[in-house]
Amino acid sequence: MSLKINPAKGKLGILMPGMGAVATTFMAGVEAVKKDLGAPVGSLTQLGTIRLGKRTDNRVPYIKDFLPLASLNQLVFGGWDIFEDNAYEAAANARVLKPELLTKLKPSLSKVKPMKAVFDKNYVKRIDGPNVKTKGTLADKAEALMDDMKSFKATNKADRLVMIWCGSTEVFQKASKVHQTLEAFEKGLAKNDPSIAPSMVYAYAAIKSGVPFANGAPNLTHDIPALLDFARDREVPICGKDFKTGQTYMKTLIAPGLKARMLGCSGWFSTNILGNRDGEVLEDPGSFKSKEETKLSVLDQILQPNLYPDLYKDLFHSVKINYYPPRGDEKEGWDNIDIFGWLGYPMQIKIDFLCRDSILAAPLVLDLVLFLDLAQRAGMKGVQEWLSFYFKGPMTAPGLYPEHDIFIQLMKLKNTLRWMRGEDLITHLGQEYYD
Ligand SMILES: NC(=O)c1ccc[n+]([C@@H]2O[C@H](COP(=O)([O-])OP(=O)(O)OC[C@H]3O[C@@H](n4cnc5c(N)ncnc54)[C@H](O)[C@@H]3O)[C@@H](O)[C@H]2O)c1
Repeated sequence: MSLKINPAKGKLGILMPGMGAVATTFMAGVEAVKKDLGAPVGSLTQLGTIRLGKRTDNRVPYIKDFLPLASLNQLVFGGWDIFEDNAYEAAANARVLKPELLTKLKPSLSKVKPMKAVFDKNYVKRIDGPNVKTKGTLADKAEALMDDMKSFKATNKADRLVMIWCGSTEVFQKASKVHQTLEAFEKGLAKNDPSIAPSMVYAYAAIKSGVPFANGAPNLTHDIPALLDFARDREVPICGKDFKTGQTYMKTLIAPGLKARMLGCSGWFSTNILGNRDGEVLEDPGSFKSKEETKLSVLDQILQPNLYPDLYKDLFHSVKINYYPPRGDEKEGWDNIDIFGWLGYPMQIKIDFLCRDSILAAPLVLDLVLFLDLAQRAGMKGVQEWLSFYFKGPMTAPGLYPEHDIFIQLMKLKNTLRWMRGEDLITHLGQEYYD
């Protein structure tokens, strides 16, 4: 039995709170691909295939042909930011893409002008800007966001919307009383409860409007009982959090390999230099703490020190990010990994990843919005754990531990796609080839 999936007709509006480096590299990239000025490298929805049936069946369609995903030509973009720069200006400031390319995309990017943001400097301490909603309570601001969505949809003649948080990392916070039920949360909105972060207001407004929501940053945002229940009740698919790109992506490639061979690990020291605005925001200890939590959680879950105390119980894991403007978006991430083998003999692995943060993140934004839209058209609701593949801190149902191993995550994602289409799941057992 396959799921009934409504067709991807009409335009799909992609709304991004935060029109900085990641959001503009994503938008510019889609426009560039549409004009044949570049290829969507790094995007599973655009380049990936999926095997169906037996290895001998030779059925390996492209994912985008196997499922009714929205096409790039159907996407329209919008967003909110505390700065007034349009997407062309913001992309130029971010200095990720070459000016020659941006000039060619200027007509379409200049049209994307940020709507006024819901912002609170207590949540992002290093930046401030003029393009913000100032009137009323947080409840009024949530209403204003819903109005923004309605008028964006009407102006752009969009059939459906998806929202993805590409805003700065907010300070670390734990769920408190106001986050526990929708009733408490809505009361909190009405009386400007200081524990409600701006990103939560966007998530609430999206869910209330029936718009799927993803969180690309490590903020708590919609990972609170009030909004998890709200999303399920409103039948809205959601996912998060924190795009798995540079160093953590490397970590989730290597750690499963070490564990697969029962090699021990006594230390993993990770440090980064980063010079974009994200790096500047992360200089604030509160914002860094949000990032550190998602970055540190990965190894514990993959290596399972409780199951393998001899190999991993004394693992020392440290992650640092240093703001270093000369590098801009071109981050450098170093890892020193102290491992040990047979009879405890020590060895070392060194990684020096000279990456480009937003170049790695942009295809993830594309895949996430297309898959969330698909999930909604297929009637899937609440946390979409099959999209864990894209996140450092995957959201799960309460009480379930997140799966961080990227290969398990990919298998889960592809099996979910097969399941949606009523195809056999692939277990890799393969006994039938030898019967
Ligand atoms: N690039 C990556 O590889 C990567 C990986 C994981 C997570 N992230 C996260 O993605 C987010 C975006 O990264 P970036 O490099 O584009 O950062 P950026 O600083 O270039 O852009 C963030 C934008 O968000 C805006 N903003 C902040 N608060 C806002 C609010 N309340 N409403 C609307 N706009 C708001 C800022 O003004 C800024 O323009 C960050 O939180 C970052 O930590 C990025």
